[in-house]
Amino acid sequence: MTPKAAAHIKTMSAFALANFGGHDRTTLAQNESAFPPSPRAIQAGQEAAARSHLYPDPDWTLLRDAVARAYNIERDLVLCGAGSMDLIASTIATFAGPGAEVLSTAFAYNFAASAAARVGATYVKAAERDFVLAIDAILAAVRPATRIVFICNPGNPTGTCIRNTELLRLRAALPGDVLLIVDQAYGEFDDQDPQPVFALAGRGDTVVLRSLSKAYGLAGARVGWGLFAPGIAAEVRKMQNSNQVSTVSLAMALAAIEDQAYMRATVARTAKIRDRFAQSLRAAGYEVADSRTNFVLVRFPDPAAAEIADRTLRDADIIVRGLAGYGLTDCLRITVGQQDVMDRALRILTGMRGRQSW
Ligand SMILES: Cc1ncc(COP(=O)(O)O)c(C=O)c1O
Repeated sequence: MTPKAAAHIKTMSAFALANFGGHDRTTLAQNESAFPPSPRAIQAGQEAAARSHLYPDPDWTLLRDAVARAYNIERDLVLCGAGSMDLIASTIATFAGPGAEVLSTAFAYNFAASAAARVGATYVKAAERDFVLAIDAILAAVRPATRIVFICNPGNPTGTCIRNTELLRLRAALPGDVLLIVDQAYGEFDDQDPQPVFALAGRGDTVVLRSLSKAYGLAGARVGWGLFAPGIAAEVRKMQNSNQVSTVSLAMALAAIEDQAYMRATVARTAKIRDRFAQSLRAAGYEVADSRTNFVLVRFPDPAAAEIADRTLRDADIIVRGLAGYGLTDCLRITVGQQDVMDRALRILTGMRGRQSW
């Protein structure tokens, strides 16, 4: 006799990260920042390492204050976690369970499916339209068992964004007892005013999540935050591991948030490289979704062409993300790296298109 995993864990599949083989190769597969974090964050992390014999502040006091100041929000609404993944998992575990449905969309960030499976909830996907969230399709898929609607805006792996007015329309039309989770891991790349979406959190039926992994270049530090109304926060905190954000990560996140100028400059540099790359690919005849993130979704004529491109890039030591897990076998997702890497990737892809080698 050997110990057996719980039945619902046995039947779920593990969340699949990109098969990138380590950071000794050029990885454009994980939507990491092309640029390192603020020098101030690096220095703060080094100093904080010396305090690692002490447990971190479980209430993230300084970080919450800094987030509240930087984003012009109420600090008591802010919860932090070990990446926004941690907050996605804790929130879904709090509001869904066996018999409940978590409704998401065709190309929403797949980790939400794992988070739902972990607690025995059913994960349902509403259609998207041309790689863009379709509010009416989401509303049409709501059923009595729906406990959570999970959406990403901007989306991953699509990179596209809907207008805030559409998001507000979704919330207004959803039943009041359905929790709406708005994942804005790439929110700093969206040029819309974030306040109308942040304000939804005050209603007590909506959670808005942000990450320091993308615009702030802190994917390795694992810090995310979100806006949670007090009644929701009190329950979600029961599901969080205490002390889950380390002393070093808290210090890095605090310094990074306090260096808004560096973050803005990083976002602008990244967006410039992205837009040039996307436009050049379109000029070469590729279909490229309109991105408000640090990556682009490229559609190939067919799955075979996408596979050849993936292999050719890999042979040149550039690892990108295949999307079979989303059923998008004719697409690749390419994270925006530094200019020289993107130029290399572009030469390879335009060369293939020119030769029509598929
Ligand atoms: C839409 C979306 N949400 C959440 C995450 C997870 O981010 P974090 O590193 O903050 O856990 C990602 C990471 O790629 C993402 O794309």
